[in-house]
Amino acid sequence: MGSCKDQEQQKQQHNQLQAKCVLVHGPIIVGAGPSGLATSACLTQQGVPSLILEKTDCLASLWQHRTYDRLKLHLPKQFCELPLLGFPENFPKYPTKHQFISYMETYASHFSIHPRFNQAVQTAVFDRVLGFWRVTTQNCEYISRWLIVATGENAEPSIPDIPGIDKFNGPVVHTSLYKSGSEFRNKRVLVIGCGNSGMEVSLDLCRYNAIPHMVVRNTVHVLPREMFGFSTFGIAMALLKWLPLRLVDKILLLIANFTLGNTDQLGLRRPKTGPIELKNVTGKTPVLDVGALSQIKSGKIKVMEGVKEITRNGAKFMDGQEKEFDSIILATGYKSNVPTWLKGCDFFTKDGMPKTPFPNGWKGENGLYTVGFTRRGLLGTASDAVKIANDISEQWRTLKHCKNISCNSHVILLKET
Ligand SMILES: Cc1cc2nc3c(=O)[nH]c(=O)nc-3n(C[C@H](O)[C@H](O)[C@H](O)COP(=O)(O)OP(=O)(O)OC[C@H]3O[C@@H](n4cnc5c(N)ncnc54)[C@H](O)[C@@H]3O)c2cc1C
Ligand SMILES: NC(=O)c1ccc[n+]([C@@H]2O[C@H](COP(=O)([O-])OP(=O)(O)OC[C@H]3O[C@@H](n4cnc5c(N)ncnc54)[C@H](OP(=O)(O)O)[C@@H]3O)[C@@H](O)[C@H]2O)c1
Repeated sequence: MGSCKDQEQQKQQHNQLQAKCVLVHGPIIVGAGPSGLATSACLTQQGVPSLILEKTDCLASLWQHRTYDRLKLHLPKQFCELPLLGFPENFPKYPTKHQFISYMETYASHFSIHPRFNQAVQTAVFDRVLGFWRVTTQNCEYISRWLIVATGENAEPSIPDIPGIDKFNGPVVHTSLYKSGSEFRNKRVLVIGCGNSGMEVSLDLCRYNAIPHMVVRNTVHVLPREMFGFSTFGIAMALLKWLPLRLVDKILLLIANFTLGNTDQLGLRRPKTGPIELKNVTGKTPVLDVGALSQIKSGKIKVMEGVKEITRNGAKFMDGQEKEFDSIILATGYKSNVPTWLKGCDFFTKDGMPKTPFPNGWKGENGLYTVGFTRRGLLGTASDAVKIANDISEQWRTLKHCKNISCNSHVILLKET
């Protein structure tokens, strides 16, 4: 039986839920990151209103609050543009995170997008009787014919269960909380993970005279960010128009080996499958090197095998070595949070990714859509956003025609106490 306090809390929650019930004209978009904003802009252009619910107090919260200071886009800006409004001309080829955030802010104001902040979606369920989605936040229920999931592939840090990690004496932080190496000056730091985050954080640590040891438990493709002055990604995209994928992978690896040398000798063994094929099949992103490799070559970043166990003062490794560390940084990636709030719907895997792979994963049943779950970064976002807006605007026009919807506001308050 629940305590009085529990009952009181339940009553309060119930009352809060009763507080507001809002019928949304047009789709509800969950998440005000680049994907949510892009979709809202494309819908606006087609004359369809939408409402974005965002759990934090700002747009592009991943970029504002969960990225490190030295972050720059990996791909040239033309591959990271959202639909309908490009980056300012005076931005460099690889914009900084601050420039990217200012682009997002300009984008939102250009399309008059005003998300509802501090609205964390707790559940979203399709009501089969009503034929509408019921979306609840901490203090409101929103109802709409359409639900667009834009909470991102990188919604939550992925924290692995490493034996002994609870016993460690020093700080353990995930890269989502890492800002710069300034707090780690002259410290011995164990960086677990060697994706783009692990590599760039290790590089940043070097710039602050820390001593990073980076754990590489598996194979990894490292490619130069540019080849002969052109972005590697751009070259790959161009070659894929003419050549089969495996041949493109072979060409990329040939040039990568020529410019970077044999990475296997540095403890960074290459997978047997080529970088683009691997990305397409498993979603594993190749590392685009922005300087970490030369620090590995010079011995400033030390490459370690998988961790066997964390001890009070350091770690034991698979190869039998044992070392002391002052801090641990988990560069272990991210995961989707969709399964925690989207209920009664089998469109997503248990990992919160659409079951249907790209390019067809953007549309589910009963007015459900997903944007930004393509494992193709902002390019994938742009592609999804346009398709979703086209699809919904067709339905919108039909509905408007049938019911002659006319309403000045895109939200209607149904209930307020
Ligand atoms: C360090 C780092 C660097 C990256 N660099 C690049 C790059 O250079 N190029 C590239 O293409 N991609 C990059 N990415 C991938 C990145 O995820 C995308 O660029 C982009 O942020 C995806 O946008 P999104 O809107 O889909 O997701 P997000 O940016 O994650 O936005 C999702 C939004 O949904 C909100 N939200 C989550 N759950 C809820 C909820 N229950 N209720 C309400 N709101 C919710 C979040 O607060 C967030 O604001 C990078 C990722 C990381 C982690
Ligand atoms: N400048 C940029 O544009 C930039 C910078 C950073 C990140 N990003 C993007 O952000 C996304 C996330 O990147 P990310 O680097 O944070 O994550 P990621 O690509 O998922 O890499 C996670 C890393 O952690 C390792 N790992 C996970 N659990 C582990 C464990 N228990 N022990 C040891 N290693 C473990 C993984 O190894 P396994 O491979 O063995 O699983 C992998 O090396 C990617 O799309 C990336 O491209 C972009």
